[in-house]
Amino acid sequence: MESIKQFLLKPSTYNTVVGIYATFPVLMIPALFVVNAPYGRFAGKLGIECSLPGKWSWCIMEAVSPIAFGMSIYLTRPTGTPFQIILISAWMAHYINRSIIHPFRATSLAPVHILAFVSSVGFNLINGYTNGMWVGRHSNSIYSISFWFGITLWFTGFVSNIYHDNILFKLRTKKKEKEKNDEKQQGFNDAKERPVKKHYFIPYGGLFEYVSCANYFSEAMEWLGFTLATQMQSTPAIIFTLSTMANLFPRAWRTNAWYKEKFDDYPPERKAVLPFIL
Ligand SMILES: NC(=O)c1ccc[n+]([C@@H]2O[C@H](COP(=O)([O-])OP(=O)(O)OC[C@H]3O[C@@H](n4cnc5c(N)ncnc54)[C@H](OP(=O)(O)O)[C@@H]3O)[C@@H](O)[C@H]2O)c1
Repeated sequence: MESIKQFLLKPSTYNTVVGIYATFPVLMIPALFVVNAPYGRFAGKLGIECSLPGKWSWCIMEAVSPIAFGMSIYLTRPTGTPFQIILISAWMAHYINRSIIHPFRATSLAPVHILAFVSSVGFNLINGYTNGMWVGRHSNSIYSISFWFGITLWFTGFVSNIYHDNILFKLRTKKKEKEKNDEKQQGFNDAKERPVKKHYFIPYGGLFEYVSCANYFSEAMEWLGFTLATQMQSTPAIIFTLSTMANLFPRAWRTNAWYKEKFDDYPPERKAVLPFIL
């Protein structure tokens, strides 16, 4: 046990893992423009037919991040400066929502392919470990404009992410009741048999008026804010922000194209993820 602890604390271990992590955004962008991460509306078989239940998969794979982050904080034994306490609280608030509140508040979550599950667990392990190590070992003054600008941006993104995820949940709950009766009449028995238009709907309200993936835009805003709060000194936070964009922006681009293909009445001017830009 002691040797694992020493291994995780060794600067060479941390530097190697950060080095590996730095390759993720570079590799993700081309990969995700070619292949869709197999979950949600893009759930597929990818040669292996093994998908896991949506809610439990999200809960387990996302819980890895706060556990790894918390373990790193515990190992580094920080003094608990206001800078560290605020960043730890932001991380934990995001992941308590993502791993517990989000999956169980969702009306339904599509199955997650085993490959998407395994890659998320690996990503969250590295992300939680490296970011926890950085926060545990560094502290800055909180009396700076960039710190509070970053935290405000993080908080705005956090609230906006939950707000826009809620729009999607409500959309499905409200329509589900109405569609259930129609489906019964038309003879569809379960979700797999439903035509896509009976399961997904056009989102309206908030930033959905400008982009198809307002929840992804907000998530990117959150981690950009977190990184600015570290005064751009945390390499793992910079990599996380770039990875979030590399992961979500290609998916948003495909989601936008998917909506436009499936719905004839989809607002044509709506961008994918960055209002008026992308
Ligand atoms: N930091 C990162 O790298 C990262 C990576 C992935 C996700 N996330 C975050 O995790 C959250 C969930 O991600 P996601 O990719 O699952 O988001 P999503 O595709 O927008 O789906 C979110 C939820 O809304 C449902 N939904 C989506 N579009 C809908 C529509 N048009 N009509 C009715 N229901 C709809 C989905 O159902 P189905 O499950 O049935 O499709 C799911 O329950 C987001 O807030 C995202 O920002 C972050």
